[in-house]
Amino acid sequence: MRSCYKPPRFQPGNSVYNPTMAVNTLPMEDVKAPAGTRDRAVGLWLLAICACLLAMIVVGGATRLTDSGLSITEWRPVTGTIPPLSDAAWQSEFEKYKQIPEYRYINKGMSLDEFKYIYWWEWGHRFLGRLIGVLFLVPFLYFYFTKSLRPELLPKLVLMFVLGGLQGALGWYMVASGLTERVDVSQYRLAAHLGLAFIILGFIFWVAMDLLREGARVPQPRFLHPDIQGTRTAMIALTGLIYVQIVLGAFVAGLDAGLIYNTWPLMEGAWVPPELFPHSPWLANFFEHQKLVQFNHRLVAYAIAIATVVLWWRCRSPLLPGPARKAIHWVLAAVGLQILLGIWTLLAAVPIALGLAHQAGAVFLFAVALYACHALTKMPSPVAADARAA
Ligand code: HEM
Repeated sequence: MRSCYKPPRFQPGNSVYNPTMAVNTLPMEDVKAPAGTRDRAVGLWLLAICACLLAMIVVGGATRLTDSGLSITEWRPVTGTIPPLSDAAWQSEFEKYKQIPEYRYINKGMSLDEFKYIYWWEWGHRFLGRLIGVLFLVPFLYFYFTKSLRPELLPKLVLMFVLGGLQGALGWYMVASGLTERVDVSQYRLAAHLGLAFIILGFIFWVAMDLLREGARVPQPRFLHPDIQGTRTAMIALTGLIYVQIVLGAFVAGLDAGLIYNTWPLMEGAWVPPELFPHSPWLANFFEHQKLVQFNHRLVAYAIAIATVVLWWRCRSPLLPGPARKAIHWVLAAVGLQILLGIWTLLAAVPIALGLAHQAGAVFLFAVALYACHALTKMPSPVAADARAA
């Protein structure tokens, strides 16, 4: 234990989480759910939705990497479920695609079969989105009408559904940016679409953890030992930085900035490449200049690596709950893997398989970072554990 530790804020009725002392004066039992609620089933269902979202993110990545995203030029949320079924229907879709700049300037002369290939990717991405909507809504109604949900879950589940709908609309807003003047979509809208995907995934994953992790619903003490408090704050900040890096990655992808400067660790033969800010206003370079966007993605990766190693070193404190310590080991492994994948993807100039692996790696890293935050935020009290064991 650190010598500087003083518990000055401790007052009767509050508690300091400190596994070395039995000072937790809060009720030790899990907050009782109303009879009939089925936390485990609901939690597993939400976890399954997270797995579907991982698939959705990967298929979205494949849609982008195969340049398929602009092949469906309309947004028909309901009737669009059915793909073209006749030759005439395919021809009609192809004619609409021929009107947009991507066909005229990039894909002119494309055959109908080639068009079908890109169409199926985009259709698959949209279909998966609709399917996830159904996989969410139907069990939700079942759980609701069988009174299997804790009351506090209801607004969260409604919010998840609304965010899912918003993500569909944002996807169309992104596609629309590539249909009139550009030959690709706006990198800003791509980043917003990917950024919201990770927010939705993170939110659902967090609520699933609330339901599935043992002890997550035990009332938490208001004051923590400084070692635990410090590690928790650092882990939350690291997760925020990982999120920023994911959004930066979307800018790298949206600007095709992974197709240039395919060397590592140097860029243009230097640690800091020249002419990072050629455009005016200065700020626009951060989001529109390929060189700076890629450079920043590298820099933030190094910052994440350093922060993770420091945090991992700190997590040797015996005061940290076991699951949190294990989770931080996983975060270290996931960061290492993701950085290696990123470097490999860059050196190979983004082949589809590596681009997808790097994207899936980001989902994995984000999930384990959130798990670590959860393990440091919702801790089963040691006394509660004793009480349960008795
Ligand atoms: C913690 C570290 C990292 C995270 C969380 C991360 C995350 C991401 C994400 C989410 C994307 C967007 C993928 C997409 O939308 O398709 C991306 C793209 C990319 N990242 Fe990273 N990245 C990391 C480190 C690196 C490193 C160290 C490099 C290379 C030095 C790198 C190179 C790239 C490249 C080249 C792309 C563009 C791939 C494409 O066009 O599909 N990344 N990254």
